[in-house]
Amino acid sequence: MTISSKILILRTVSQVRQWRAKLFSDNQSVGFVPTMGALHAGHCSLVRKSLEENDKTIVSIFVNPSQFAPHEDLDNYPRTLDRDLEILESEFSDKQVDAVFVPKVSEMYPNGISLDIDKQKGAFVNVHGLSEQLEGITRPQFFRGVSTVVTKLLNIVQPTRVYFGQKDAQQCVVINNLVRDLMIPTKVRVVQTVRESNGLAMSSRNEYLSKEMKDRCSIIYKALKEGASLYNENREKGGKVNSSIIIDRIKDIVSQNDEFEIEYVAASHPESLEDVELIEPGVGAIVSCAIKVPKESSTEKARLIDNIILQ
Ligand code: PAF
Repeated sequence: MTISSKILILRTVSQVRQWRAKLFSDNQSVGFVPTMGALHAGHCSLVRKSLEENDKTIVSIFVNPSQFAPHEDLDNYPRTLDRDLEILESEFSDKQVDAVFVPKVSEMYPNGISLDIDKQKGAFVNVHGLSEQLEGITRPQFFRGVSTVVTKLLNIVQPTRVYFGQKDAQQCVVINNLVRDLMIPTKVRVVQTVRESNGLAMSSRNEYLSKEMKDRCSIIYKALKEGASLYNENREKGGKVNSSIIIDRIKDIVSQNDEFEIEYVAASHPESLEDVELIEPGVGAIVSCAIKVPKESSTEKARLIDNIILQ
């Protein structure tokens, strides 16, 4: 256990359990913000909410291997621990983050963890029915990895409340169901997406983009907003709204940039995440997308996701 200038840094499960046990006995509420680091204003808004709503706040920083497929960007995923700790120490004025959990991979996966699912051993968690669509189509092991690590983290930290960002809309639905179905005694809080001034959703993967590309990527949220306006116009005429007109409009706008590759644009039921053909006012839909855009000084592409909620 080490103390950076202001924050307690916990590295093992038993250190977190010790820290938490004292707070249970003092009847203190604990807010938990799980992250993979490379912190940005989006994470800070989750932390801020947790500081507001709880006596104590703990943040985890752990790049979770099991949510990456062998061909994905695990090795290159931004790891910026010193900067992350500086942000956590300097960003919040009234109240400070109390602890940061920074485990090693061997602490979270004592049996080791292969990125090849067929070689994995041990217990894994899957939220069936909500993990296969949207992000799950091209990232079939993603939510199994997220659900597994979030279950582990929730069992370790046992927070009163846990915080996630709306930008990862499907992740929020998966985690809500996970917590409910496995009867984990924590409240899931979903916090609004934080955006750059041009509208681009904050994401650790924005670090892959040049300044100019970030500006160009602002078209993604503009397109989602256009889709939402189209929905609102049609909704006012009464009755259900055909999702295809919204999806087509969004695709048209995004594809004006021929370097962008649209992986999907979808309108999904807010709870079941099933495709919605006719959007019913009052029930609404999550309109989400994944777009691949050129990375800075590389021939590879970065995959950005975003969404807008229709009411
Ligand atoms: O959203 C993320 O950063 C990750 O998926 C999470 C929830 C920290 C699990 O690794």
